[in-house]
Amino acid sequence: MNKNINIAIVGLGQIGNYLYNELNVKKKDIEKKTGKKIKIVAVSAKNINKKRKFPISKKIFYKNPLKIFENVHVDVVFECVGTSDGVSKKIVETALKNKSHIITPNKALIAKHGDSLSKLAEKNKVNLEFEASVAGGIPILRTIKEGLATNKINKVYGILNGTTNYILSEMENSQEPFDKVLRKAQELGYAEPGNPKLDLNGFDAFAKVRILSALAFNNKISKYKCIMEGIEKVELKDIKIAGQLNYRIKLLGISEIIDNKLFETVHPCLVKKNTYIGNVNGVMNAVITEGKPVGESVLQGEGAGPGPTSSSLLSDLLSILRGNIKYPFGVISNKRKSIKSYDNNNYSNSLYLRFEVKDKQGVLSTITNRLAKFKISVKRIIQTPDKKNDRATIVIITHKTKEINIRNCLSIFKKNKNIVKFPTLIRIYN
Ligand SMILES: NC(=O)c1ccc[n+]([C@@H]2O[C@H](COP(=O)([O-])OP(=O)(O)OC[C@H]3O[C@@H](n4cnc5c(N)ncnc54)[C@H](OP(=O)(O)O)[C@@H]3O)[C@@H](O)[C@H]2O)c1
Repeated sequence: MNKNINIAIVGLGQIGNYLYNELNVKKKDIEKKTGKKIKIVAVSAKNINKKRKFPISKKIFYKNPLKIFENVHVDVVFECVGTSDGVSKKIVETALKNKSHIITPNKALIAKHGDSLSKLAEKNKVNLEFEASVAGGIPILRTIKEGLATNKINKVYGILNGTTNYILSEMENSQEPFDKVLRKAQELGYAEPGNPKLDLNGFDAFAKVRILSALAFNNKISKYKCIMEGIEKVELKDIKIAGQLNYRIKLLGISEIIDNKLFETVHPCLVKKNTYIGNVNGVMNAVITEGKPVGESVLQGEGAGPGPTSSSLLSDLLSILRGNIKYPFGVISNKRKSIKSYDNNNYSNSLYLRFEVKDKQGVLSTITNRLAKFKISVKRIIQTPDKKNDRATIVIITHKTKEINIRNCLSIFKKNKNIVKFPTLIRIYN
């Protein structure tokens, strides 16, 4: 690699624009640490005239990012557009074919096309780095690829989405309902103003789970149908009741090898207040790995925002400039295997079930009889009457039960006229 390194940034939004400034500010530091002189030779975004926090040089602006490769030699391209297909995929493929290294925070792209893109990078002997795609500033991917390289990891889990963690924590702190706290998160820039759906429905955390599994277990990115639930159905009432029972609600992403099969999931969980994960609050992320012989390792930090994300993007850059060219997923693509999927039906947890019912005699026994019919045994019942409205809230904590049992059991409650709303189910983290 030459001493002079040409860099292109495609996408100048929240991340790309901040990165543009960081690269300029940290030029000297990067040279001191790597012996390489960096220069931004091309930038691209949709709109050249858009007002940006850090003004960009219009002389090196490209409306069409693919034209960059026709005009100038680029050593490293930062892809910061963020689509799972379309322009992001095209830029990355074109850059790799042109033997430019790629660095991206784009989890949607890597979770969908990481396998084929890593093959292309290996073929062209360049790097594809994506540390910033999982848990923002937390260096979890490099930790798995390098620090824990010879360990046999059997589980990676944690809080992988800062937006949802902020919402759940703030609902507890302020005792305000979901919609109000979501608006607050949008005002603070923690949730997307237009469409926060991908954070709220678990999709964002799920893409991260798939990337983590591929690195931790050396498997190809799985495409299996999994249990993916977000936080949209969590009500303030659930947070209050969980609190009384000494729990907090957290959205957990879990990837695990069970009986030599791969199990991946994202769903809200009740976690004990006195556990480590129960005390990761606000926009914080935390990732926990369990491996042999190392045991449990924990990494915690800010999971989003331009500062933490740029920290990871720059760590990828320094790794490349120091000559650390390696396989994107830690092992060569043709040695990455496909692990069979664990049957979701067998996933077992204790459950929190909340029923909103008409306050009539016999309703509770109808519920418990139905649960018993599906072999779901009850550990605890909390019944709170609402005399004014002739209603009652019944919360049932169950013993461990299989997913298949609860799914079959709950579907029946849809038809019961005394149950005024489909029951809320939140799994309890073991
Ligand atoms: N924001 C975070 O906290 C965060 C954290 C971790 C990872 N990430 C990831 O970082 C990536 C970027 O996120 P972001 O928040 O910076 O998104 P963003 O603010 O929406 O920025 C997207 C950028 O892409 C540009 N763009 C769109 N279409 C283009 C095209 N056809 N050609 C060239 N440029 C195009 C836009 O141009 P204009 O500016 O002209 O419209 C904009 O500058 C995503 O993959 C995201 O998942 C973000």
